[in-house]
Amino acid sequence: MISRVKGTQDFIDLSLFNFIISQTKHHVQYYQFTEIATPILEHIELFKRSLGIYTDVVSKEMFLIDNRGQEPELCLRPEMTASTVRAFVENNIVHTPWKVFSWGPLFRYERPQKGRFRQFHQCSLEIIGAQGYMHDVEFITMLDKLFTNGLKLTCYALHINFLGTPEDRVVYRSALLAFLNKNIDTLCDNCKARKDTNSMRVFDCKNEQCITLYKQAPVITDYLSKESETEWQQIRNALELLGVSYTHRPTLVRGLDYYNKTVFEFVSDNLGAQNAFCGGGRYDFLVKQLGGREDQPSLGAAFGIERLLLLLEPIQERLALPHKPALNLVLPLTPAQQTLALLLTESLRAHHLHVDVLLEGDSIKHMMKQANKRSASHVLIIGEDEQQSQTVTIKNMMTGNSERIAQIDAVQYLKK
Ligand code: HAM
Repeated sequence: MISRVKGTQDFIDLSLFNFIISQTKHHVQYYQFTEIATPILEHIELFKRSLGIYTDVVSKEMFLIDNRGQEPELCLRPEMTASTVRAFVENNIVHTPWKVFSWGPLFRYERPQKGRFRQFHQCSLEIIGAQGYMHDVEFITMLDKLFTNGLKLTCYALHINFLGTPEDRVVYRSALLAFLNKNIDTLCDNCKARKDTNSMRVFDCKNEQCITLYKQAPVITDYLSKESETEWQQIRNALELLGVSYTHRPTLVRGLDYYNKTVFEFVSDNLGAQNAFCGGGRYDFLVKQLGGREDQPSLGAAFGIERLLLLLEPIQERLALPHKPALNLVLPLTPAQQTLALLLTESLRAHHLHVDVLLEGDSIKHMMKQANKRSASHVLIIGEDEQQSQTVTIKNMMTGNSERIAQIDAVQYLKK
């Protein structure tokens, strides 16, 4: 047997997966988001330029496409924000705010573990041209309401932080670097290297000694300009007024270079080590960076469908998953009645009834067993007698009652 590729999954039952997508579509349409789809194949350069060459995603996790001996040019997309911005620029979208969502598979060459895959799925929501921080408040509220009301999640928390403007970060970075240099002997090798390429990324370190040290590190929100400080305060006030609970996490920096100002993650203790199921933030400079004529302050987030599945599987009963429609099963008792059975089945389907026909059974007993197993609501028996008299015997599997009726009345009978 050839098994599936490491870090990928087969979805045999998609009901919960589809529920997540349909609830999201339903919810975000009230916020005027429309659905788009961008290709899975993109130029490597797109992600180098947007996520940054020193990020884990770009430096270690990209699935590159072999280019027949030449330098690779294409990759499988590792995220969708850069693609959305590329699509905004390339399709000359002029109406902003451009509120869009897309969902589909992403690829990252990570070490697989619970909730972490090499092929996974995200739903990505972006607002390109989101002037003003009140967009951040509305956007975060929208996500919170989706998780609470649409998906009935209870056990989660929202972590937020404010990374300031590039000018704020220049001031902060020198304070952080001074702190890191002072404690250089305590840092792990990874942090020693990260300190000089992207110093704030040290906060993503999982080393216990580093984590303890960083509790005393200077925090970005103490280094904001007056204007940024006001903005950060107003965002928090508005979230509180809108009833969105959050925790300020000063070490939340997110692993991608394009963020500025607001960043956030929705996390759950029920997920294990990979506890974030949704992450996002503001990216005010990406449109120009990817070739747009002018900057478009923007913001967005993505949630991982596999991680939501882990959270939703245990509470499935509480969710309003679509009911399976009642099944009507047609039983031709011998091969001689099979063509007639197919004709009847097609005429019932044409009237939007859910019907299947049993073509394998060799006895009525065996066929009835199958009907019970499949929880059929009605069986429609066609034996030689029924064939001769153009009738069908319909048995209601709930009551056990049977009736023989004309074949042409079957639709009306079942729709009753
Ligand atoms: P991200 O934090 O890299 O952000 O991913 C967002 C979510 O995708 C994570 O919270 C997680 O649920 C899921 N995820 C990421 N990697 C994996 C994996 N290997 N296996 C399973 N699930 C995974 C972004 O991708 C940004 N583009 C989000 C964004 C949109 N920012 C602004 N707009």
